[in-house]
Amino acid sequence: MPDFPAGFRWGVSTSAYQIEGATTVDGRGPSIWDTFAREPGRIVDGSTGDEACDHHHRYAEDTALLAGLGVSAYRFSISWPRIQPTGAGPALTAGLDFYDRLVDGLLAAGVDPVATLFHWDLPQALEDAGGWLNRDTAARFAEYADVTAARLGDRVKLWITLNEPFIHMSLGHGMGVHAPGRVLLFDAFPVAHHQLLGHGLAVAALRARTASPVAIANNYSPVRPAGDSDVDRAAAAAYDALHNRLFTDPLLGLGYPDAPGVDPTVVRDGDLDVIAAPIEVLGVNYYNPTGIRAPEEGSPLPFEIVPLDGYPRTAFDWPVAPDGLRELLLQLRDRYGDALPEIQVTESGCAYDDAPDAQGRVDDPERIAYLDGHVRAVHEAIGAGVPVTGYFVWSLLDNWEWAEGFTKRFGLVHVDYPTQRRTPKSSYAWFRDLVRR
Ligand code: BGC
Repeated sequence: MPDFPAGFRWGVSTSAYQIEGATTVDGRGPSIWDTFAREPGRIVDGSTGDEACDHHHRYAEDTALLAGLGVSAYRFSISWPRIQPTGAGPALTAGLDFYDRLVDGLLAAGVDPVATLFHWDLPQALEDAGGWLNRDTAARFAEYADVTAARLGDRVKLWITLNEPFIHMSLGHGMGVHAPGRVLLFDAFPVAHHQLLGHGLAVAALRARTASPVAIANNYSPVRPAGDSDVDRAAAAAYDALHNRLFTDPLLGLGYPDAPGVDPTVVRDGDLDVIAAPIEVLGVNYYNPTGIRAPEEGSPLPFEIVPLDGYPRTAFDWPVAPDGLRELLLQLRDRYGDALPEIQVTESGCAYDDAPDAQGRVDDPERIAYLDGHVRAVHEAIGAGVPVTGYFVWSLLDNWEWAEGFTKRFGLVHVDYPTQRRTPKSSYAWFRDLVRR
């Protein structure tokens, strides 16, 4: 592996609902994922995040795993309904206490705490009032950022406002396969705008409480047109605008792109300035490229997603394409030029059906190959002048993978859910050795 610049941040990521469990302790309110997971047929194995990895009780053991890994940073998310059970009003001290203990434990272990404020677990009470379709949710989000940073702002080293607002809009509100399960197709645009507005308002709230840098974590997927006909290319451009530009152009001061669904009547005077508040870091979550072709006649969508041939595939059936990460990083640099802030890859990883062998070891050579390829792609992008300063593996632990329940394992550490036993996989040792070097 080639050398990375001194000070490059190596980390791992998780999110609250996927690992914490303990959903009814300390006054925590229900979130949209508690509700959604209970609806029949929503989660492939019928499971919920009620227990997940029991991290709320085992955070000290998990912090020791981070220390053993030697990472310089840990990206976790804060559960909004632990802080404000109904999404409004004063913060619950007991809810904040948990993150306070976690943050202090990380610092004692020499690991920088990187906190995401919203990784999809909206308080159910806010959803009942319209959720992200309701403009008021943006103001509620800024208030939550304020009360959280009032307690943790002196110790969190990087704040991330939102995780993947595109996925939350498209899977949660466009297609209805994630919480809250709305099927609005392109009428979901207000969810995009109100999340971005909430981000901008939260940036201002954070600035008043902390000197630490602020970021957002966007999901990106370089688009590969299925053919070179004009119609395939137009379809690819439409998908690219939706997935890769809708949540980045306005952040970087360019306003909304010409993407399907954009409705200017939702955007009020001054909103775009709030959204374009400067941020220090752009978080990039990358898993795979997307194949696109022109839609069949009569399709409600201006594109059709098609499988990409010729790549190895993960257990999610996603193509393994490290070259897509390099391509994406170069594309961001070419697209945004000087407006592009420093980049940290805030998620990169893969699911495989990892299981312990007779000796209890978990060997995951495919994950090592995946990570090796993606880390090299980042190195190449840095060599080509893209300002990338960090790389976080998704994920520290096997965890509750949203609509896939417990059926997809992304961890460097295997979790046996009935016993909650943690077993570092061979990829854990591989990543530890990489970080050490
Ligand atoms: C999300 C994670 C998720 C991962 C793998 C990302 O879209 O931020 O929560 O587990 O992808 O699907």
